[in-house]
Amino acid sequence: MTALNHHPRNMGAQVRSVGHYQPARVVTNEEISQRIDTNDEWIRTRVGVQTRHLAREDETIDEMGALAGQDALRKAGLTAQDIDLVIVATSTPETPVPNVAASVAGRLGISVGAFDVNTACSGFSYGLANAHHAIIAGTAQRVLLVGAERFSSWLDWNDRSTAVIFGDAAGAAVVEASDTEGIGPVRWGSDGTKAGLIRIPDRHSSFMQEGQSVFRWATSEIAPIALQACEAAGVKPDELAAVVPHQANLRIIDAIARKLGADNAVIARDIVGSGNTSTASIPMALSKMLERKEIPSGSPVLLIGFGAGLTYAGQVIRCP
Ligand code: UT7
Repeated sequence: MTALNHHPRNMGAQVRSVGHYQPARVVTNEEISQRIDTNDEWIRTRVGVQTRHLAREDETIDEMGALAGQDALRKAGLTAQDIDLVIVATSTPETPVPNVAASVAGRLGISVGAFDVNTACSGFSYGLANAHHAIIAGTAQRVLLVGAERFSSWLDWNDRSTAVIFGDAAGAAVVEASDTEGIGPVRWGSDGTKAGLIRIPDRHSSFMQEGQSVFRWATSEIAPIALQACEAAGVKPDELAAVVPHQANLRIIDAIARKLGADNAVIARDIVGSGNTSTASIPMALSKMLERKEIPSGSPVLLIGFGAGLTYAGQVIRCP
């Protein structure tokens, strides 16, 4: 058999910078309580959300994604011309065709490879693994990875069990080749037998979930996966400087952190001000933690995403 040429491979990859974008409109629990039968105390204690940002009617996923991408590029001191692959994780595109990543690349003025990943709330972690693997294989040197979500357009605003949970946002990371490994092995998986627990049943329907079942799954199954990701990277939980779980519910975040035993880590709690922003939640929470200088550069940070599918993915990264 003829051996074919392959790209020169890279030793490793690293997250160079992280950015985010949130729509300007802030919606409080009180505002929601005026429209549906809920209240601030229930939302704070059961979900952990105090405010969320919602997109304008005309604000699209690719627009939010490009703005988050520009923030990540600015923080890295780079321009879009330095990027050779764009990956967008989203589960709420306006339409299934065309993909969002090509539109984001177009908005940034580049015509590089561009594809979407849809694993809902675990999308950023899946996208990061794809970016990592593309760089290791040598097919990309510097990837712009975006997680963008606009759940507000898929919610039934009269359904109190879902309307109070979500926010709109985009997060982004610049992932680039590195001589030393800055991204640990991904631990990922799925359980399609539970696909019905979180879904949008058809194009005319709104988002639905069986909240209690998802809650039980997330609080029992995700911490062991997070531990596996730590082991795979060779990092003990008490060595983590930060843990950034998908911002689904403050009680889930706290349960994962407790079970993990990450006693010295800062735990991301961006859900309080932003709501559950699905695939945007991990990069946005990390971006804000870095802006607040809460995590020393170079220290190990655990990212762990989980959600519809059911899907999950986690990896330890070296903090930018
Ligand atoms: O990001 C994607 C992955 N998704 C998740 O991780 C979601 C996981 N699940 C959850 O976060 C929680 O299950 C929810 C936040 C969705 C719900 O919290 P819960 O503690 O499981 O509440 P519940 O569904 O068991 O409802 C408890 C009570 C019910 O009333 P009764 O039957 O006990 O009288 C609900 O009708 O709370 C009621 N309720 C509300 N009350 C005030 C439900 N929603 C509301 C609301 N305001 N918004």
